Amino acid sequence: MEKMEKKKMARRAHCLVLAYPLQGHINPMLQFSKQLEHQGVKITLVTTRFYCNNLKRVPPSIAIETISDGFDQGGPPHDADSHKAFIDRSREVGLESLAELLEKLGRSKDEHVDCVVYDSFFPWALDVVKRFEIVAAVFFTQNMTVNSIYYHVHLGNLQVPLTQHEFSLPALPKLELQDMPSFLLTYAQHPYYLDFFADQFCNIDKADWVLCNTFYELDKEVADWFTEIWPKFRNIGPNIPSMFLDKKYKDDQDYGIAQFESEECLEWLDGKPKGSVVYVSFGSLAMLGERQMEEVACGLKQCSSYFLWVVRASEETKLPKDFEKRSEKGLVVTWCSQLRVLAHEAIGCFVTHCGWNSILETLCLGVPTIAIPHWSDQATNAKLMTDVWKIGIRAPTDEKKIVQGETLKHCIREVMENEEGKGIKSNVMQWKSLALRAISEGGSSYESVIEFSNSIFH
Ligand code: UDX
Repeated sequence: MEKMEKKKMARRAHCLVLAYPLQGHINPMLQFSKQLEHQGVKITLVTTRFYCNNLKRVPPSIAIETISDGFDQGGPPHDADSHKAFIDRSREVGLESLAELLEKLGRSKDEHVDCVVYDSFFPWALDVVKRFEIVAAVFFTQNMTVNSIYYHVHLGNLQVPLTQHEFSLPALPKLELQDMPSFLLTYAQHPYYLDFFADQFCNIDKADWVLCNTFYELDKEVADWFTEIWPKFRNIGPNIPSMFLDKKYKDDQDYGIAQFESEECLEWLDGKPKGSVVYVSFGSLAMLGERQMEEVACGLKQCSSYFLWVVRASEETKLPKDFEKRSEKGLVVTWCSQLRVLAHEAIGCFVTHCGWNSILETLCLGVPTIAIPHWSDQATNAKLMTDVWKIGIRAPTDEKKIVQGETLKHCIREVMENEEGKGIKSNVMQWKSLALRAISEGGSSYESVIEFSNSIFH
């Protein structure tokens, strides 16, 4: 009997998708949920009780449940000092809370959970899920090169504090100190951060599936390397709303976290010529120093392009006092629908902090980049983006690690006006078509999603 027929007759498989409470995690896991749902899987999206308040735009067909991480009134705290306390408590409380949820759902025949896709930032979830004899799939929201580096830290192959200047790790491009995730460089001050990331691998050998938000063609070597270690390693990305790439879901919307989004910026962009605007955003977490903010402001003011700059409300006080937030030349907003902005034809380039979601989004929408990485995985992402995939350039920093306004202005000209920019644009368009192929019928990610969802229907 055909697989589809079997699916129709069977009770719908129920998959619980447990996402870490951050924008950059919920977004791709929600998009992945939509893919599974499209294959007939019933989805319950789970995140922490406090963070759940942000989940205002989820497709009505996806159920929501919460677990406690011990910080139901607020958090998680992101400063290093409280990080260890947060991790310990969220593990302790989260373990129990997830077990209670699985028990509750298990009491009903319809709600009984067949599979849990859990965020790699919650490795303890695997132990709970296995206790219930449920299929467990770990989901990595970060890039595979970054994950591979943390895996080597976990194995003890990369000793911190780092003493070398160059690193040759299996299946990865040669990396220099400045390309490594920041937590390897700040280990002496804040060991907990790196321990947290290395811990993603503490029990991974027990997972039934290892899923990653990327596509095979983008990360071939490292994907092959991981598949040798974990035969059930699969790339299932890029997980961006279908309306922006393949348009396969008729009623798709850019569901996700509801923040205050400026419609104003789309109207403003409508009035600008094709490819004339620089979009600037440093994501949902990065906090730039005042001096860096001033230099970005100065570079944007002096460059010959229009600009749209996202400055989160918490960062606004760092803007120079005389900086105009709305003028013919530029617009500053506290948040926007990034995908809608990147999809707008007025956008010519993206000055980005190189968060992994931002990179996948810019690649899928064919927008060249200028990298100003801040912390965490971003320097490694910037290296791949500029030297391996060649879809952007990295803005050089001065001796104080600041990108000066003059430098930014020069980079914008390179990408928006010069020959180098044309080459970058053509590369990004090629990656865009490879991404589209990967998620289309017969493509690498598409087939992996089908294989995975079929495996949940026994
Ligand atoms: C962080 C890390 O930097 C990232 O590398 C990691 O993989 C996840 O955690 P963040 O800094 O928020 O994430 O960056 P990014 O991964 O780029 O995610 C930001 C998300 O917010 C993107 O999906 C982007 O579209 C969205 N966004 C950002 C908006 O919708 N509007 C904005 O104004 C800014």
